[in-house]
Amino acid sequence: MGIKYGGFGIVSQLVILLLSIAVAVYGDLPPKIFDVTKYGAVANGKTDASQAFLRAWRDACRYYGRSRVWIPKGTYFVGSVTFEGPCNGPIAFLIKGTLKAPTNPQHFLTDTWIGFRYVDSLTVKGGGYLDGQGASAWKFNNCHTNPQCRTLPATLRFDFLTNSKLSHIRSINSKNTHINIFACNFMEISNMRITAPSNSPNTDGIRIGSSNQISISDSVIQTGDDCIAMVSGSQNINITGVACGPGHGISVGSLGRNHEHEYVMNINIRNCTFFASDNGVRIKTWAPSLTSLASNITFQDIQMINVRNPIIIDQQYCPYSTCLEAESAVQIENVLFKNIWGTSSTKVALNMQCSGALPCKNVNLININLAYRGRRGHALALCSHVLGSTSGQQNPPGCL
Ligand SMILES: *[C@@H]1O[C@H](CO)[C@@H](O)[C@H](O)[C@H]1NC(C)=O
Ligand SMILES: *[C@@H]1O[C@H](CO)[C@@H](O)[C@H](O)[C@H]1NC(C)=O
Ligand SMILES: *[C@@H]1O[C@H](CO)[C@@H](O)[C@H](O)[C@H]1NC(C)=O
Repeated sequence: MGIKYGGFGIVSQLVILLLSIAVAVYGDLPPKIFDVTKYGAVANGKTDASQAFLRAWRDACRYYGRSRVWIPKGTYFVGSVTFEGPCNGPIAFLIKGTLKAPTNPQHFLTDTWIGFRYVDSLTVKGGGYLDGQGASAWKFNNCHTNPQCRTLPATLRFDFLTNSKLSHIRSINSKNTHINIFACNFMEISNMRITAPSNSPNTDGIRIGSSNQISISDSVIQTGDDCIAMVSGSQNINITGVACGPGHGISVGSLGRNHEHEYVMNINIRNCTFFASDNGVRIKTWAPSLTSLASNITFQDIQMINVRNPIIIDQQYCPYSTCLEAESAVQIENVLFKNIWGTSSTKVALNMQCSGALPCKNVNLININLAYRGRRGHALALCSHVLGSTSGQQNPPGCL
């Protein structure tokens, strides 16, 4: 018996040794390529490549080691597809070509055009295009008037990913949100170009919810809705080097509509530029609302060029239904606006309408210099229920 156990011990040690060699080696071996054209994808812009993409993904995902799904140059027609993990090694999805979404309305019944779920160490990059062909769908985005409206598909949906990267992709004319991040941890997004017309409905650039440790950098976002929106459960998020506009700005919220104890916290937005956007930096909460929290939010080193509402806190957000005269129950606290300069296209350059029931706490304004771009008059600050402090330049003055 003793010998048998001893033998087993040696075998298991050997297995562990071999495994650790394999793990050490993966890092240096070139990744194994899974070319979608070898799986039947045809780059003619017409033949549905969805099944070929899924088969290439399945083999790449099963591969023990680094793998790459490779989409060569050319235009591929792709229906709604979701690539699922977990995979056996780090996996990259390299888009060199252009992927075109369907325009047939029966494809609009899903919430995803291209999805990735339950993957660790995923990289999506390659310099290619995702063309959502949104113009065919925007007229169905009629939720203001039609209670049975459909949820149109997001161009890219990342759900339950960890340690992943997205970079060097151009997303154009999404039907709904361009990139939706849900329940992801440790994710880097950089060098993206996201565009849709300024009047296209609900085409948020990047929307983040229930996610932790996300960074977005060096990207250009021009859309018909928020450039970046951080909704419930967003925490530890850094945004730097983003050029936003046209669009509705970089927003925290809206918060407080659906669930109690929603929160957004530890958000850092730095070195960004807004061009002719509707809003610059915004925090919005519903009124009436459920109890929620927006805390530790910094907006720093930000230039506004002809922005309609450069700095805005709106605790009376209620765009659709007939709103009640009610106060928001979302606490906004520890908010820093520092080094924010440029021009406002309306007189009210600084607008903070906090909740009468729960005033904003510890709001700090440091070196604000926003000029009204119109002919007559100066920029104004309109603030109510805001507690905090100011230092350095304050133009417009008189908020706190
Ligand atoms: C955000 O920036 C801070 C300070 O530079 C850094 O410590 C932190 O790791 C960053 N977080 C992410 C998710 O990039
Ligand atoms: C600010 O962002 C721009 C890109 O928009 C980048 O070129 C520049 O290096 C950044 N500056 C700092 C100090 O991070
Ligand atoms: C806000 O930041 C402070 C100081 O960094 C920290 O002590 C506090 O826990 C943070 N609050 C939240 C809600 O994360």
